[in-house]
Amino acid sequence: MKQALIITMDGPSGSGKSTVARGLARKLGFLYLDTGAMYRAVGLKALRSKVDLADRAALARLAERARIGFKGRGGKVRVFLDGADVTRAIRRPEVSEAASRVAVVPGVRRALVKQQQMIGRSGRIVAEGRDTGTVVFPHAPLKFFVTASLAERSRRRYEEHKSAGHRMSLDRVMREVHRRDRRDRSRKVAPLKEAPGAIRIDNTRLQSGQVLDTLIAYVHRSKTHVSPS
Ligand code: DC
Repeated sequence: MKQALIITMDGPSGSGKSTVARGLARKLGFLYLDTGAMYRAVGLKALRSKVDLADRAALARLAERARIGFKGRGGKVRVFLDGADVTRAIRRPEVSEAASRVAVVPGVRRALVKQQQMIGRSGRIVAEGRDTGTVVFPHAPLKFFVTASLAERSRRRYEEHKSAGHRMSLDRVMREVHRRDRRDRSRKVAPLKEAPGAIRIDNTRLQSGQVLDTLIAYVHRSKTHVSPS
């Protein structure tokens, strides 16, 4: 029997993993599962419903009730929360902060991991996040861990904020990226770490096209069969 092909891609924020995960999904004709967008959607829902970000029980209930969906394939995936398009809203800086806070709540993670596993059950997906190779899909046959230096990751986040019209100094962005990294790596549940067997890609100096070529080479070299979509 053909193995359900799930490719996982984890790494810290700003490592450029979203761009390459999206590109890889498009190239292979796979679904792109942006798990960070799901934590962002829960963060947004919490802010909108004025739920206290320290109230773990309330956040877990909110995550269980949240209807999060994706529409579209490849580069043009839109994110929906309770029927409304939140693709842009979830990228706002205050939502990044809220997402990072809700992501430490075990009940929130349980609810979202369950949804992610449902989405991935038939394979042919590129799942991207922090724990997709360690917790969500530990049996995925191909796992990547994408990194880049703190300075480079902060510079990219700064450019993203700028082009989205959010004004923030580079210094502040760097402090926030650093703080969020620490929270992601040190939390008790599903901390950001490399899955055993993950292929490490340092994306500090590479162009996303070069990274994509490297990943495609690994996919072709792996024993998993990728049939055309
Ligand atoms: O990748 P991102 O910046 O969109 O992620 C938003 C937040 O969600 C970030 O603080 C990390 C967290 N996250 C997580 O804890 N687990 C995941 N699988 C994906 C994201």
